[in-house]
Amino acid sequence: MDYGIENRLARIIKPKDGKTVMLAVDHGYFMGPTGGLENINKSITPLLEYADSLMLTRGILRSQIDPKIDIPIVLRVSGGTSILNDDLSDEDITVSMEDAVRLNVSAVALSIFIGSKNERQGIINLSKLVDKGYKYGIPVLAVTAVGREMGRDERYLSLAVRIAAETGASIVKTYYCEDFDRVVETCPVPVVVAGGKKTGESDALKLAYDAVKHGAAGVDMGRNIFQSEKPANMIKAVRAVVHEGIAPEEAYNKIYNNK
Ligand code: 5RP
Repeated sequence: MDYGIENRLARIIKPKDGKTVMLAVDHGYFMGPTGGLENINKSITPLLEYADSLMLTRGILRSQIDPKIDIPIVLRVSGGTSILNDDLSDEDITVSMEDAVRLNVSAVALSIFIGSKNERQGIINLSKLVDKGYKYGIPVLAVTAVGREMGRDERYLSLAVRIAAETGASIVKTYYCEDFDRVVETCPVPVVVAGGKKTGESDALKLAYDAVKHGAAGVDMGRNIFQSEKPANMIKAVRAVVHEGIAPEEAYNKIYNNK
């Protein structure tokens, strides 16, 4: 056991139930000023008391987040492309582990693009990041299956997630799919699901509920929270689903709609 890695992971995935609600606001690193994230200090700070961790880039962390707020940080450390480029897979490591340590982060996050022309580069970057992370006791979250052209079915996601874990990731983020149990069962580390593009609040709550029911350790959700009409109610409802197992309909009516 590596004390630093385990201790930092326990700040993100709550030991009392093995679950987590991670709030992802790192979209700007390739999408620019994403709706709902124009002024992160204003829109995201009020949500932090309901999140188990905050995933973002160092530029936004330094400029927008009050260092006195006690929230575990998952730092996005990969990048190099933008939505103007058809191929999002050409990423490299963009932050040194020394800077991550200086920022007192609880984990670092990097995307891998299995099946893309830059598959190898992503896996090698992940392995280098894991090596560096172990040196300093910092766990690595691998983000899989981002990109328009990827078929997000159980076969593909199991492959991508397992490769991330084999390469040494301590947590893997992926998308929810049919037969999700198999994705989780064949991955030796916790799996969290991304929310994806904004949908209706009740659909997003159902996604969180189904993911946890089928073995996910929780969600790393962004747009379905910060683009919601009522972001604070939405993150509270997601929390209730993930940590208390409340049915999505009940969370939608009682917590999101406050009825
Ligand atoms: C993109 C990311 C995002 O953090 C991720 O997609 C989660 O946000 P959303 O719930 O909006 O999909 O890692 O590479």
